[in-house]
Amino acid sequence: MCGIVAVIGSRPAAPLLLEGLKRLEYRGYDSAGLATIKSSSKSSKGFLRCLRANGKLANLMNLVDEKGAPGYLGIGHTRWATHGKPEERNAHPHRDSSGGLAVVQNGIVENHISLRKSLEEEGVHFVSDTDTEVIPHLISRELCLLRSDGQPANSALLLEAVRKVSLQLKGAYALAVLWEEVPDALVVAKKQAPLLIGLGEGEFLCASDTPALAGFTRTILPLEDGEIALLSPLGIELFDSGGNRQQRSPSLLKSQEDEATKRHFRHFMLKEIYEQSEIASLWVDRHLPLGLPGEDPVAFPFRDSFYKGVENIQILACGTSRHAAMVGAYLLEQFAGIPTTVFYASEFRYAPPPLTPNTLTIGVTQSGETADTLSALIMEDQRRKLHGGALFASKQLGITNRIDSSIARQVPYILDIGAGLEVGVAATKTFLGQLLTFYGLAIAFASKRKNRSTHDLITLRDELRCFPSQLHALIRQHDEIAANLAPSFSDTQNVIFLGRGINYPIALEGALKLKEISYIHAEGYPAGEMKHGPIAMLEKYVPVISIATPGLVFEKVLSNAQEAKARDAKLIGVAPEGPVTEIFDVLMPIPEVSEWISPLFSVIPMQLLSYHIAANRGLDVDQPRNLAKSVTVE
Ligand code: F6R
Repeated sequence: MCGIVAVIGSRPAAPLLLEGLKRLEYRGYDSAGLATIKSSSKSSKGFLRCLRANGKLANLMNLVDEKGAPGYLGIGHTRWATHGKPEERNAHPHRDSSGGLAVVQNGIVENHISLRKSLEEEGVHFVSDTDTEVIPHLISRELCLLRSDGQPANSALLLEAVRKVSLQLKGAYALAVLWEEVPDALVVAKKQAPLLIGLGEGEFLCASDTPALAGFTRTILPLEDGEIALLSPLGIELFDSGGNRQQRSPSLLKSQEDEATKRHFRHFMLKEIYEQSEIASLWVDRHLPLGLPGEDPVAFPFRDSFYKGVENIQILACGTSRHAAMVGAYLLEQFAGIPTTVFYASEFRYAPPPLTPNTLTIGVTQSGETADTLSALIMEDQRRKLHGGALFASKQLGITNRIDSSIARQVPYILDIGAGLEVGVAATKTFLGQLLTFYGLAIAFASKRKNRSTHDLITLRDELRCFPSQLHALIRQHDEIAANLAPSFSDTQNVIFLGRGINYPIALEGALKLKEISYIHAEGYPAGEMKHGPIAMLEKYVPVISIATPGLVFEKVLSNAQEAKARDAKLIGVAPEGPVTEIFDVLMPIPEVSEWISPLFSVIPMQLLSYHIAANRGLDVDQPRNLAKSVTVE
């Protein structure tokens, strides 16, 4: 959510900033901007150039081509609008009244209204609607106070001013500051929003996330909360919020940040949907042993002590990750026999349930940066530590696709879903990776707790082992079916998705995918719930997409589908071919597999139908309006 990049070194800053921003554009693409400082041979002061453009990064690139942004020092920003519409005047960098001090920020200054009021009372004139604009004005005010005894401008003053201002800011932020009075210094600071310093050869590049560092360096120094750093050609000076110098060694990135290309696909999303069969194969090879006699049913990711004594599981997640968590909860409860509850991370933080003993808390986040999830995990850890006692001890596991992300630094146990870089903003392959991780975890818990017979464990494992080979054909088949079906949705305004049991979360995911990229209103319901209200929506222009997989609830789902058909709704079934599924007007066939693994199949038609409906409408599938891949504000 908003991406920031800052660079200081011996190469022109603008190309490095634009390259970094390109790799961070997934964090927001409402507007973009940069500021650079060109040193002057005649004066100790430099010259600050600030360029901003509404819309995608390409607009800023054109502007930089046209106007130029000289200098070896600069800051850049790609925005996901929070305060103020996506307009050029709200784009970052924001400057103080002199225009010589510039700031980019990621996060939200929660007390910006009172800060703005006090600055306005002092005569400051604001030019944007953003929360960020208070920051350059506050720094400028602090600099005036610090220089009231006639001190010359220097980097220590800038550092001290930023430190003092950071103490006044409530909320989460990562920021980078330039001041033309000191053309060889860059100050960065962070609290509850990610910021890393990449150490190159004679240059530093700071960024909100690791992809911006690809090709620049693998050596990083992640800033900790409350820290502030002064970067100059001489090196990095790191301080805590009290101004005490900090010493910490840099570390190496664990993951390889590959540059993603679309290959021959029209969109990243389609490519990523196709990649799922490969991800599934890799996952199976890595986690499911061949099935030799006496072998464990799964390659246990952790030692016995991890599983021991766990009586309850609570899972915190948002959006698509929450849907994966719901499938996971079904598996952990129904297969492994552990009471499991899924929470919206954003709700959990402010209304946590009473503490349960011997509880494992799992945070699921593909980006590893979702503020709602990270904050909820921190809150839970703190309240368990405060409560004291072994019974309520805090045990936390993160499930993520980004092993260099904030969650990996925050919780002691991590499971890497191994889906590779996902560029499309709508999550697809990371969802599948999350599902697979939950299958592995459920088998591991069931096996350690001896909650299932060896036969059950081996059956599920063997089904999972076979699944990747079926997936590629299924994706190809549904790519074609969905492409043919999509034009019939060209005037559709509402769609209802139905599922039951383990496939109810897949109905929710189907509805979310469609909303996100095609902007069609869609809702997912447990199929049995439709008659309790949503049925009032049904008429012939409202398609109903019903997931009906053989098992405990098969007949019930088919009856619920009949109820929709009786109201003239166009009925699309995601179900195996057979006489009983002939009730559907259109069938999106999936193989007849056990109910346990059916979500791994039923999600594919959902993803491809959403994709083709959006592509058929000519929409920007990979960067849908108003969204961002990494949501770092609460
Ligand atoms: C949907 C989507 C979002 C995310 C949600 C949580 O396609 O991507 O709903 O699932 O914002 O993000 P992570 O998983 O990064 O915590």
